[in-house]
Amino acid sequence: MNKDIKKVLIEKNELQSKVAELGAKISVDYKGKDLLIVCVLKGAVVFASDLMREIQLPLDIDFMAISSYGANTKSSGVVRILKDLNTGIEGRHVLIVEDIIDSGLTLAYLVENLKSRHPASVEICTILDKRERRTAELYIKYTGFIVPDEFVVGYGLDYAEKYRNLPYIAVLKEEVYQ
Ligand code: IMP
Ligand code: MG
Repeated sequence: MNKDIKKVLIEKNELQSKVAELGAKISVDYKGKDLLIVCVLKGAVVFASDLMREIQLPLDIDFMAISSYGANTKSSGVVRILKDLNTGIEGRHVLIVEDIIDSGLTLAYLVENLKSRHPASVEICTILDKRERRTAELYIKYTGFIVPDEFVVGYGLDYAEKYRNLPYIAVLKEEVYQ
């Protein structure tokens, strides 16, 4: 295990089976629909790349980057688009794939922004939900795991851009933040 890890919350095999389960549900729900996965950079890359291979349907993927914490661990509430989609979404079924929903401010903004482009639908699929901290009103169609109010890393999630490549979800040791 990485020396900076205090404890593992979700093991690699638990992530794999949950992603397969989500992919199977999405495959049923979007059958016959023009599905576009919108992966939110950078945190959702690992989850999105696993999830798309569990969806047994034709689909497109595109990427958006929006500002969140930077090197900090608290949401600013100020959302900025750093990279927009390359494709148009009018009339298409958009599924936003996210790593974690915390306050929900980032996603609430993103959903509204995408809806203004007249897609057929916009839904959310997140691997983690830090539900205790939610302040924005948000409907999440697909959730992997509910996590406690602790800062987590791994499986795409970072602290100061590090730890994204850990194959599990974990909590860091306190001294890492000092
Ligand atoms: P929200 O706007 O507060 O929901 O923030 C969501 C974004 O903050 C996520 O997409 C993550 O990039 C980041 N974030 C929130 N909690 C954590 C965490 O525990 N670890 C790593 N990143 C986090
Ligand atoms: Mg993110």
